[in-house]
Amino acid sequence: MKSLCVAVSRKKAESIRRKLQSKGLLKKDLQIRSDSKHVYLPITQRVDIGYPVETKEFQEAEDQIKDFRVLVSLPDDLRRYLPSSYDVLGSIAIVRISDEVLPFAHEIGQAIIATQKSVRTVCLDVGVVDEFRTRGVKVVAGEPSMETVHKEYGLTFKMDVTKVFFSPRLATERELVARQVAEGETVIDMFAGIGPFSILIAKTRSPKVVYAIDSNPDAIRYMEENIEVNDVSCVRPVMVDARERIRDLEQADRIIMNLPHNAFSFLPDAISSLKPGGVVHFYEIMEESRLEKRMNDLRSAAVKEGKVMKLLAQRKVKSYSPSLDFYAFDMSFL
Ligand SMILES: C[S@@+](CC[C@H](N)C(=O)[O-])C[C@H]1O[C@@H](n2cnc3c(N)ncnc32)[C@H](O)[C@@H]1O
Repeated sequence: MKSLCVAVSRKKAESIRRKLQSKGLLKKDLQIRSDSKHVYLPITQRVDIGYPVETKEFQEAEDQIKDFRVLVSLPDDLRRYLPSSYDVLGSIAIVRISDEVLPFAHEIGQAIIATQKSVRTVCLDVGVVDEFRTRGVKVVAGEPSMETVHKEYGLTFKMDVTKVFFSPRLATERELVARQVAEGETVIDMFAGIGPFSILIAKTRSPKVVYAIDSNPDAIRYMEENIEVNDVSCVRPVMVDARERIRDLEQADRIIMNLPHNAFSFLPDAISSLKPGGVVHFYEIMEESRLEKRMNDLRSAAVKEGKVMKLLAQRKVKSYSPSLDFYAFDMSFL
């Protein structure tokens, strides 16, 4: 669609966008566009703010992913270091920024807030910090609040992103596992966090019970809130080290082991808590070249427990870093 627009340099784009927006002159239903020299801000009427007004073709906002990078002003040779994606947990965006563009972190954060309607806070991801898999984060733009409510498959998950683990990138995997749960199953979610696997299973299938174990008291506190707000009755939060208590629980038809750096050391506990023919969903982060060796390790671990491992499925769930991927192994033990 054709529209009047103001042509501004990248350097000035964000401040002029804000100025136009505050005066109600920015057309929000059109997607801001750019070329090598200018950013073109679509406007509702001709304005005189010291920049040329032109007429250009624009795409409607909902037709295109909004690219925050257009709004970041930085030297052209650094543009290739801008992050291409970020995680959104409710109203909080968490982004990794390479050292080359770290001085522009605040600008990057503001650009994300400007282009992603739901985001009010942008945090820099400074890595996983403890055994609870929580993230170290630093607010670079927006409100300093660390608590948020994330929606996934119509469910509501409240969390403090600095106190518990949650990855929106596992949504598809959670759905894939939930779909396999049959009526009346006993499920153990060994590293349940704030409960996204457990609550989805309880809400969409009809299990007998889901034992949702986690050793992080904050995760259990949020899980309890999430159980209540999503109105599920068969999830039992268990705050303990999974190794200590899992053998006290009734045997399960299905065990979910989402502790991807350390799940292997818990495998004997899981095998001993599984009904014959039951299924384990096992997750691990590794290099692709280690897959075959890991498969042999899993088989040997089963033999030590007097079982035979049958691999039901194996898949790459997501990339974790340039050299590492996040894999799922669905296994039964006979
Ligand atoms: C990678 S997170 C997975 C959380 C959840 N399954 C999800 O998909 O969001 C691993 C979880 O295991 C918990 N954890 C780590 N070691 C544990 C242990 N020994 N026993 C029980 N929970 C543990 C951490 O607190 C964390 O919440």
